[in-house]
Amino acid sequence: IQRIAISTGGGDAPGLNAVIRAVVLAAAQRGWECYGIREGFNGILQPERYPVDGVFPLPPAMVRGIGHLGGTILGTTNHGNPLRYAMRMSDGSTQEINRSGEIVTHLKLMGIDSLVCIGGDGTLTIAHALHQQGLRVIGVPKTIDNDLDKTFTTFGFDTAVSFATECVDRLHSTAESHQRIMVVEVMGRYAGWIALHAGIASNSHAILIPEIAYDLKQVAAKIMERDAAGRHYSIVMVAEGALAANGGHALQEDASAGYVERLGGIGEQVAHELQQLTGKEARAVVLGHLLRGGSPTAFDRLSAMRFGAAAVRALDEGESGIMVALAFPNVNYVALEEVAGRMKGVPLDGDTLQTGRDIGICFGD
Ligand code: F6P
Repeated sequence: IQRIAISTGGGDAPGLNAVIRAVVLAAAQRGWECYGIREGFNGILQPERYPVDGVFPLPPAMVRGIGHLGGTILGTTNHGNPLRYAMRMSDGSTQEINRSGEIVTHLKLMGIDSLVCIGGDGTLTIAHALHQQGLRVIGVPKTIDNDLDKTFTTFGFDTAVSFATECVDRLHSTAESHQRIMVVEVMGRYAGWIALHAGIASNSHAILIPEIAYDLKQVAAKIMERDAAGRHYSIVMVAEGALAANGGHALQEDASAGYVERLGGIGEQVAHELQQLTGKEARAVVLGHLLRGGSPTAFDRLSAMRFGAAAVRALDEGESGIMVALAFPNVNYVALEEVAGRMKGVPLDGDTLQTGRDIGICFGD
């Protein structure tokens, strides 16, 4: 009998529970058992927090009715990376220790020799290290940001794009009623996937992403053009990471006056500057963590279930050190070492960005 542990790490994404469900059911079909590790690897690394059930059995009954739920029944964390675990020393100082060996030993003592590790870039780097230490590891790509390389898409992304689109659909009427500029800030630390896709799908009038250096004067000009044509409102979609595309601040001219420090995120900054440049009233809406919550779309549920089932299939085929990936129309396998540490931004020669340029809502080079 094979025993598989499942871990979810990093920021949550809609579809995590669907992956867990598929892994457990596909394993049960083969007569194998599954175990859940709590909060990334904290269930093993923090015995004081989980003295008895840090790693607990996941029979099929435990995954009944969870496929459509957001979050993860295992819990997750952005802290406690086993490769650089911050340990408090007896002299009061803190040192980063590699504790990945403890995970392998702990699981092997429980008779568990396989791990399905569901996460983004950081978690998949940990997965690769655990594989190198003799655990059989399959990675599953997750992030609402869609910035993982070697997979067409990650689950959670479609849900985030759909929800952001729905939010902007609602903002059109209030923006138009008040003749305002509405700046909508969405997640995407390093990449503008959500902003680009939701911006186009929601009929936004301008999109700012980290991949492209932009000039807000161009955006202001577009807003004033619309104004002159009788369209007295505009929606500007901005990825949180777009700050980086403009030298670290939206308001270059005012940066020396401490403007950037005074205001919150890029959404607020862009709204402020567009208000200055156009003389129109501007408001910022930060969608933030709302994009990570709620029920996964059918597309994300399906991708998540396909990834989960493929992870178990891969174990059955004797694979390890790979990530299951979406390479339309099928799921394929990619070596974890080809994925770990590689981000995927919006391709500058892709047709989605070109669509944004063609319809006049993507600016800059
Ligand atoms: O999941 C990735 C992400 O959504 C980023 O876009 C965002 O910057 C980050 O998570 C924020 O996560 P947290 O608040 O959990 O640190």
